[in-house]
Amino acid sequence: MRILGIETSCDETAAAVVEDGRRILSNVISTQTAIHSPYGGVVPELASRHHIENIGPVISKAMADAGLGYAELDAVAVTQGPGLVGSLLVGVQVAKGIAYVHGKPLVPVHHIAGHIQAPFLAHGEIPLPALALVVSGGHTSLFDVPEEGRYVLLGRTRDDAAGEAFDKVAKLLGLGYPGGPAIDRLSKGADDRAVEFRVARIKNGASDFSFSGLKTAVLYHVRREGIAPIESPEAEVPRQIRDLVACFQRAVVTALLARLKAAAIERRPRSLILTGGVAANTLLRAEALRTAEAVDVPLFVPPLALSTDNAAMIGAAGFVAFRQGRRAGWDLNAEPNLPLT
Ligand code: KG4
Ligand code: ZN
Repeated sequence: MRILGIETSCDETAAAVVEDGRRILSNVISTQTAIHSPYGGVVPELASRHHIENIGPVISKAMADAGLGYAELDAVAVTQGPGLVGSLLVGVQVAKGIAYVHGKPLVPVHHIAGHIQAPFLAHGEIPLPALALVVSGGHTSLFDVPEEGRYVLLGRTRDDAAGEAFDKVAKLLGLGYPGGPAIDRLSKGADDRAVEFRVARIKNGASDFSFSGLKTAVLYHVRREGIAPIESPEAEVPRQIRDLVACFQRAVVTALLARLKAAAIERRPRSLILTGGVAANTLLRAEALRTAEAVDVPLFVPPLALSTDNAAMIGAAGFVAFRQGRRAGWDLNAEPNLPLT
């Protein structure tokens, strides 16, 4: 079964063809990083305009790379939400158009279901139930995954997502957008014990997260020490800032994995899944492996290209949703706050 997946929830225009939810026949991503970087974050209006420009060529390339005509597709899957409404709308409308013209079923996909499905593309079968930690720019959530396509929310962030915290701290220090990859790179070889940051523990919510306090602690530290942001992302970054972001990164990673470890000990899952844009983080990947070894549960992490936003994960999640009987009508609408049920 071949599914065309379409993803436009944020600032990547992406299309992919996936066979049987497991085999990637093509995977095309057009990123808008350079467009949003000067603003230190995604500008929604610019994002939707660029999606409109890019979506046609991106889908054509995905079909050409897969060596398929539209008639050979079995379904079209699209991210319905959550995300930026103007961005989502572009993917949803184009998916409807293709499905309608070629008489194919239209399958709505939740963006986070896509992230959770990403490691299945790389690893094939993953023993279930799994505990899935989804860490991205918009989400930081822990799910129980009893079977493919079923998700039980165990905990989530009360305020900022982990990726959002990376991006805000990077912006504060003039490190450019997206902040995660910059902080990841700058932390290498820096002293991650130079400043002590703690992440708040949450009462009555053992599996919940909170990162806004940490972000504020970084801000206070910057003010107290009189640290000036760097002039341009190309400028040399002083040691003091590299140590600071390394300490911030370590605090985020420690907080994320403490929850994952506690939930793993409590629930004894057969697998751990780490996914979403922040799962591209070098320290998080390495430390998650140590956590997995400590609790003696295998860890599944998608390769870098499938950790951040892509459409192959939407094609894979679309396959699972299709088998569950999920179909959308021609009235399908983008849902910026779509819950994962
Ligand atoms: O999943 P994703 O591509 O988009 C959303 O669904 O949000 O995640 C993007 C987020 C951004 O906040 C970005 O800074 C973060 O993932 N990110 C990273 C790294 N690569 C991307 N954070 C930390 N370290 C990285 N290497
Ligand atoms: Zn994402």
